[in-house]
Amino acid sequence: MSNPLEETGDSSFMSQYTVVMVDDEQNILQSLKRCFRREQYTVVCAGSGAEGLKLVAATTNIAVIISDQRMPEMNGSEFLTRTRELAPNATRMLLTGYSDMETTVAAMNEGGATHYIGKPWEDSALLQTVRDCVRHYHLTIENRRQQEIINQQNEELLSWNQNLKDRVMAQTVQIRKQIDDLRALNLCQQDTFHGMVESLAALVELRVQKSRHHSAATAALSVAMAESLGLPEHERETIRTAALLHDIGKNAMSDSALASDDGSFSDEQLLKYRAHPVLGQTALDSIVAMRPAGVLIRHHHERYDGTGFPDGLAGDAIPIGSAIIALADLCDREMSRQVGSNGVERALGTIAKQAGKAFLPSLLPHLTAPAHALFDHRFELHDELLEHEVAPIKLTSGMMLTRDLFSRSGLLLLQAWTELDEAKVIALQRIFTIDPIGTIHVTTRRKG
Ligand SMILES: [Fe+2]
Ligand SMILES: [Fe+2]
Repeated sequence: MSNPLEETGDSSFMSQYTVVMVDDEQNILQSLKRCFRREQYTVVCAGSGAEGLKLVAATTNIAVIISDQRMPEMNGSEFLTRTRELAPNATRMLLTGYSDMETTVAAMNEGGATHYIGKPWEDSALLQTVRDCVRHYHLTIENRRQQEIINQQNEELLSWNQNLKDRVMAQTVQIRKQIDDLRALNLCQQDTFHGMVESLAALVELRVQKSRHHSAATAALSVAMAESLGLPEHERETIRTAALLHDIGKNAMSDSALASDDGSFSDEQLLKYRAHPVLGQTALDSIVAMRPAGVLIRHHHERYDGTGFPDGLAGDAIPIGSAIIALADLCDREMSRQVGSNGVERALGTIAKQAGKAFLPSLLPHLTAPAHALFDHRFELHDELLEHEVAPIKLTSGMMLTRDLFSRSGLLLLQAWTELDEAKVIALQRIFTIDPIGTIHVTTRRKG
């Protein structure tokens, strides 16, 4: 890197420095002083080595020390050597005649002197040499000062970096913890939401005894169809919620109407029945998170040909979730009428006849596999299960209820064919401590 001082020729810095001259001969000192009188740096003189040492010890910023070699008591090279500790960065010059050349070389080899000036000297050459030495001294000192600043700034930068790293680490740990907390809270809220939906579905089925397990079956078929259609997870969740609660509006119907078939409704019962999708939507409307499911519930009795209710929507105007639930609902009702191992084929055959009228024909292929799975599951469970009774305290996850489970006070806790997991076992055992019950019918494995 170029030095700005050298480029501009600025020599104002010279005034900060001092040049020391030592000679036992006053006339030589006088002529040296005369030679240097116009220089910007300070010139101080001493008449002996001892006096010179005192002067050097008491003076700062000494850039150059010039000493005569031939002096009594302490010669020039000894004097210069002794100044090394006092002014280590100063340039040391020996004034010497030709006859002292041997001593001068020795002094330079030992490191006491770095330059020598032969007597008699050329004023302009001497002035230039001393100026160069002062400049060199200044550059050395300035470089050192700047290096110290750089070192200090580097240390500060390192310290800042470390500090920053520590703070980023601490904040990362904190953010991770907040994300974990949020995730846990979210899971907890999801569990609460699912629990609430399942409780509501259980309440519906408690009231609508005729269609026990219908909500769960409709939900299972609907979710499987939604998966097969490649619908995103949040839509599948909405469809599941709507399917579980699709008939919640039936709570407004009388017991006698609920016990009747739609074909035997009186006019008043029919009106109530046809209102149940809208009543279901209205019941959920106050819960913001349930509004999308409420829309699907409203339209679960629409038909593809536009002859359904409550709005008479047709074709693509029916939300896909509602169309799925309507088909799942139809499928479960058809399968409930069938018995025997090929009942599902008969049910699907009956349903297929309504393609293009009750439902979108392209949905049918997505129903086949879920319908078989559900039917086989029920068939196996009904015909091949090993049922036994256990006390609440003996419940373990993996067991499956074989009958609806009620508390002693008559509250439906879980439906038959619900598989118990750790959370359900804990919840049941907690309920039984406040509302006891005898034994519970479960199965843990099937034959063959
Ligand atoms: Fe319905
Ligand atoms: Fe239904």
